[in-house]
Amino acid sequence: MTTKKRILTGDRPTGRLHLGHYVGSLQNRVKLQEEYDTFILIADIQALTTHFERPELIRDSIYQVAIDNLSVGLDPEKSTLVWQSHVPAIAELTVFYSMLVSVNTLRHNPTVKTEAAQYGYDDLTYGFLGYPVSQSADITFCNANVVPVGDDQLPHMELTRKLVRRFNDMYAPVLIEPEVMLSSCSRLMGLDGNAKMGKSLGNAIYLSDSAEDVAAKVKTALTDPARISVKDKGTPEVCVVSKYHSVFNATEYDNICEMCRNAQIGCVACKKNLAEKLNALLEPFREKRAYYETHQDQVRQIIEAGTAKANLIGNETVRKVKEAMHLKLD
Ligand code: TRP
Repeated sequence: MTTKKRILTGDRPTGRLHLGHYVGSLQNRVKLQEEYDTFILIADIQALTTHFERPELIRDSIYQVAIDNLSVGLDPEKSTLVWQSHVPAIAELTVFYSMLVSVNTLRHNPTVKTEAAQYGYDDLTYGFLGYPVSQSADITFCNANVVPVGDDQLPHMELTRKLVRRFNDMYAPVLIEPEVMLSSCSRLMGLDGNAKMGKSLGNAIYLSDSAEDVAAKVKTALTDPARISVKDKGTPEVCVVSKYHSVFNATEYDNICEMCRNAQIGCVACKKNLAEKLNALLEPFREKRAYYETHQDQVRQIIEAGTAKANLIGNETVRKVKEAMHLKLD
């Protein structure tokens, strides 16, 4: 029995994970697993809410996302990987919780609204509108104490905490009210200057990209458009490459900005330097990835063992929930 507090966080398997995921959450997870009993949910049902027409993409991404997590240092001895669609407790809790939340509350959820606009939905499916309820089940089935998330997830956390309080007040105090641990890193912008690095935006560097891919992608990054020749003085504030230096090359950052402002370094050299720093970060991950890619059976075992452990905990939660709701004959 562990006395550590439990954290749960998750990824939607709709493709490979990228540097934005690394900076925003994976990096932090690797540290947190030392201190917390860590659960990482591979949220394939949530992925279906937007990608229901692409089930094979989701299936393939389950391995990809698991390998992305393992390759950056998630240790299967310390962290439990959970396959959402194979935890019936999550589905059951979702149904019970759905009685405690109004359609209007879900319609006003800012993240649901933003995503609906992004995907161009005007008539939302029941599953998509309700995914925050399912996310509350993700968090509570395993009694997570803490949920590390980015700020886009705050509306879902608020909903989860409200649902837990309503449930506990109305029936019996069986659910744990989770705390939010807000990611301290700001969002990593895309190579094209878009505020967000995103799979669908074509502006991402993937954790699985080769060193050559990384160098080639960095060459395409947006720089100061007013800086036409090396002799022109640059404005690092408007340059994506400088933003990346601040994240991935903090020690040289001030110096690089200074040289850019004085036209002492050109964009080509500056990008080459950044690509080297990114590749130095990614290289150890590539080694681990190569191992797991040739040992897929082991990845499968890690997922299955984690899911089995999750089911023991989830079944117990459902038992208590049903008892609290009088769904039990004495
Ligand atoms: N909604 C999260 C995302 O889009 C993924 C996720 C699913 C999640 N279930 C979760 C995050 C539970 C935290 C807790 O990134």
